[in-house]
Amino acid sequence: MSLSRNLDADSVIQAAKDHPHRKHTHSIAAEAGRVLHSWKRDEDGASVPKYTMPKYGIPSKAAYQLLHDETTLDGNPTLNLASFVHTWMPDEANKLYIENMNKNLADQDEYPAAQIIHNRCVSMIADLWHAPVAAKAVGTATAGSSEAIMLAGLAMKKRWQEARKTAGKDYYTPNIVFGSNCQVALEKFARYWDVEARLVPVNASTSYVLRPADAIPFIDENTIGVMVIMGSTYNGVFENVEEMCKECLGWPVDALQERTGLNIPVHVDAASGGFFAPFAYPNLKWAFDLDRVVSINTSGHKFGLVYAGLGWILWRDESFLHKDLVFELHYLGSIEYSYTLNFSKPAAPVIAQMFNFINLGFDGYRKIALKDLRNARMLARALEKTYFTVISQIHLPRPGASEECEEDESELYMMGLPVVSFRFKDEFVKEYPQVKQAWIQTSLRTKGWIVPNYNAPKGEEQTEMLRVVVRESVTQDLMERLIVDILEITETYMAPEGADMMIAFSSKGSSHPDKDNARPFTDTADDDGAEQHGFSRQC
Ligand SMILES: Cc1ncc(COP(=O)(O)O)c(C=O)c1O
Repeated sequence: MSLSRNLDADSVIQAAKDHPHRKHTHSIAAEAGRVLHSWKRDEDGASVPKYTMPKYGIPSKAAYQLLHDETTLDGNPTLNLASFVHTWMPDEANKLYIENMNKNLADQDEYPAAQIIHNRCVSMIADLWHAPVAAKAVGTATAGSSEAIMLAGLAMKKRWQEARKTAGKDYYTPNIVFGSNCQVALEKFARYWDVEARLVPVNASTSYVLRPADAIPFIDENTIGVMVIMGSTYNGVFENVEEMCKECLGWPVDALQERTGLNIPVHVDAASGGFFAPFAYPNLKWAFDLDRVVSINTSGHKFGLVYAGLGWILWRDESFLHKDLVFELHYLGSIEYSYTLNFSKPAAPVIAQMFNFINLGFDGYRKIALKDLRNARMLARALEKTYFTVISQIHLPRPGASEECEEDESELYMMGLPVVSFRFKDEFVKEYPQVKQAWIQTSLRTKGWIVPNYNAPKGEEQTEMLRVVVRESVTQDLMERLIVDILEITETYMAPEGADMMIAFSSKGSSHPDKDNARPFTDTADDDGAEQHGFSRQC
């Protein structure tokens, strides 16, 4: 969710009046700051103000129609290949979702069934991630992986502080180590909770992900933990959790403990991989079967195949959750134990998660994962045979595997998420220097596809990459259409008059005075005139 600023209605109206195109459409309704709407069969909504709450409401039918029409301007979720977030569930799941959408998971007394389903979800996930039976794995639903990462990081910080206090050492300068390819949630954790983020540079030679040996020089006695990413947001490549945990090439964490006495825990950010790796690569060791992995997060709303609004965080044993963090709440007659940032939480996504678990089972999840990989490989191969270098790896046979390996023998291919990241081939750039890669994103958008063009992670920012996330709803047929569209668009620009055909969109896309005015920090300058900056990150 973006940060929005209170709109200055007058300046929005003025911007519309001044705009070279909008001035032609400027109406009396806009002048008065009202919703611009061509009404279908009634006029009920004509007086609704845009930037202040109406004194009197309008009929629900009119309110529905107004917002329904306005939201048709959004992209089509099925064609939004920029997002890892799931966009389709079967009718029965939708029914269940609607039936339960008025329940608050926090009200355990009132909705005990929802709570029991939550507990069973935690158990099923603990089992899927090989939590040791003898240990007491604990976990909770969250709003998404970002909240889960905050909770995991805080738990590591608290344990580190406690150990430092016990040893009579200072505990004021904690740091955390992860690759510069991290998703913004990891940096948010560090900034919000006053932990120094130590970003290990990545580059093409490390496949744009953290190489365990490279992390070691960043670790010291103030390191609260290392976060390893199971499925890089940039190219889907899995970081090597086992190598990070075990003694091998460089100085990974077990060896480090032997030499220095440091005991560095590992958290796995499995936002996407947590519900993908166990099904596509059941033999891969990355989870609680590695002793040093103390906690894992995932997004139920990514490859858990639930709509947006659900994450999970699990600890291998309750001892990794400092007791100061767990609140005992006496609420409406019972005692609840809670470690979350938000108190209230919708129960429906948790129930929808259980729907998937019992509807699909392991086999159903596996079939979807293999299908996603097949479709992603088809795209990767088509791109590689034509004008593109593919940066993701899931289409490449693993070293030692035959070039002709069986499509669904996923473990014979390089492991990763069904993500295809690609860029123009070097020869293409030499031959057609006038063609900009970002044009592919813009032109695909005109056909409905949302395919972002990003800069590679810090350390390799000069490389731009287009990225397609292949989800369940991206069928083989859609994938074939996408391939044809990408190639046709590219070939149009290769033609001598091609560049002239590129419509000169501004970098912001179409003019949108409401949106631009609602953005914070765009007009604030500090004393030396510099703008206030936040992190700029791909997600
Ligand atoms: C690796 C990784 N970590 C964390 C997140 C944040 O997940 P969420 O959107 O569920 O908060 C993402 C989202 O894409 C991700 O890819």
